Amino acid sequence: MKRGRVFSGIRCTSGQHIGNYLGAMVNYVALQEDYDCIYSIVDIHSLTTLEETDRLRQNVLETALDLLAAGIDPQRSILYVQSHVPEVVELATLLGMVTPLGWLTRVPTFKEKVRMHPDNVNYGLVGYPVLMTADIILYKADTVPVGEDQLPHLELAREIARRFNRLFGDTFPEPQGKLSQAPMILGLDGVNKMSKSLNNDIPLAATPEETERRVMTAVTDPQRTHRHIPGRPEVCNVYSLHRFFNPDQVEVVYGECTTAKRGCVECKKQLAEGINRALAPFRQRRAELAARSDYVEGVLADGAARASVIARETLVEARDRIGLPAPYAH
Ligand code: TRP
Repeated sequence: MKRGRVFSGIRCTSGQHIGNYLGAMVNYVALQEDYDCIYSIVDIHSLTTLEETDRLRQNVLETALDLLAAGIDPQRSILYVQSHVPEVVELATLLGMVTPLGWLTRVPTFKEKVRMHPDNVNYGLVGYPVLMTADIILYKADTVPVGEDQLPHLELAREIARRFNRLFGDTFPEPQGKLSQAPMILGLDGVNKMSKSLNNDIPLAATPEETERRVMTAVTDPQRTHRHIPGRPEVCNVYSLHRFFNPDQVEVVYGECTTAKRGCVECKKQLAEGINRALAPFRQRRAELAARSDYVEGVLADGAARASVIARETLVEARDRIGLPAPYAH
């Protein structure tokens, strides 16, 4: 017996990085054991920040490759592109009617975007969490694997679902967020969350050589200004990544770092090797899938068809609850 329904949305980029992998994708794959899973490549959401839309089609396919190579199994789970099930836009409009503007303007990610891009505060940006809520509850999902930064959005999703249920009768479950083992992976700068736009990321699909080159630029303990000064693994992101990629070596790394037996350069080389070893099967599968674009497109077409069936059913119910007239048969 499956425990419930999982939904998560993945913003499409030109390739996911190890932060996305550890923070989300590993979890998506594992959840397939116990849940019915629906994973959506959220191309509409990407429009709120994407300056150049000419890469969008390509990015959708790259993201699908990443997810399939990581182990999303299209037999067991639904993988589809958000805009291919347009019912979500209708549900978002309906949910917008029960969402006070004040709930949306106090969301931390919204405030941050306003601070960063004061000249591009569009309606879609304010409504981002409403569309995200629609994504989730369109499928009546109860469990949503997300990174830590998405928890305020999930809180809002629960509030919107609750409000709808109170106004129109019990219709939607209140979705719960589910953090992964690694809800927040820092980037190579050792300060900010790993992110492509901050150029502090290690791309999953990088070659082993590129991976090593990127890892060598990682910032380590800033107080370790000389090779002979012992390091503090607690504040070193390279150390924290060893925990994932060289799990059987962490004690050695810790011991040698704190006694200055190893320098940061060796330590990073070993990390790069660990990453390359761990990702080799992923990279191989990704390359194989990339050569079979018909297959990947077929998976997404099938996913959209299966998602649409559920989406249409939910919308009929939501319209009815709200009191909209059903289409007249003539
Ligand atoms: N906002 C999420 C992010 O930036 C992406 C997303 C869109 C999502 N819709 C979702 C996540 C629904 C979980 C559920 O990562």
